[in-house]
Amino acid sequence: MAAAADLSLIAYGDVVAGCERCSLAQTRTQVVFGAGSPSAELMFVGEAPGFHEDKQGVPFVGAAGKLLGKLLEGIGLSRDEVWIANVLKCRPPGNRNPLPEEIEACEPHLWRQIELIQPRLIATLGNFATKLLTGKPDGITQVHGRDQEVVLGGNVVMLYPIFHPAAALYTPRMLQVLEEDFARIPQLLGRSPAEREPDREAAVGFAEQLNLF
Ligand code: URA
Repeated sequence: MAAAADLSLIAYGDVVAGCERCSLAQTRTQVVFGAGSPSAELMFVGEAPGFHEDKQGVPFVGAAGKLLGKLLEGIGLSRDEVWIANVLKCRPPGNRNPLPEEIEACEPHLWRQIELIQPRLIATLGNFATKLLTGKPDGITQVHGRDQEVVLGGNVVMLYPIFHPAAALYTPRMLQVLEEDFARIPQLLGRSPAEREPDREAAVGFAEQLNLF
């Protein structure tokens, strides 16, 4: 049977599906609320849905999402065991950067998700999620891989900024750094390291299949 918090998250998703807090409501196909386990210990926060996410209503299903799945696999986790969401729940037209007023309008949805899920660790993917959740202007290049404790949704949460997988798709060096940062996640969750090291060959092979390198 689903726990009360799980049901609350599902009910909240139904409310957010009709959100009109900003003008993205006029251009989206649908709200991309988030996906995964409502009781996840680990949450990922990306930037905003792209073309495929907007069509399917699921976060990280395009090329960056496939790389995220590979990286998760490399540390012995699956998408079903974590919660995946974005700063913005609706796609900005043409995948442009989120506007400050869109972030401000959308952030209560993210805070509520964090309150309901109560993750122990939140990995912020890229600049937008990192700046919003840390409340600091420092960019991802400076702070990636540095965990820090904050209080969010009334709970102590560990924030762990890492590069956005979309950036790593096009830059082999960034993929390596992302994998190194990913490799610390089991330890940050208090688990023993993944049995396999992050599968660099698989990730690079995957990027090559997409003709990215
Ligand atoms: N990039 C993001 O930040 N989020 C998605 O859901 C997909 C791509």
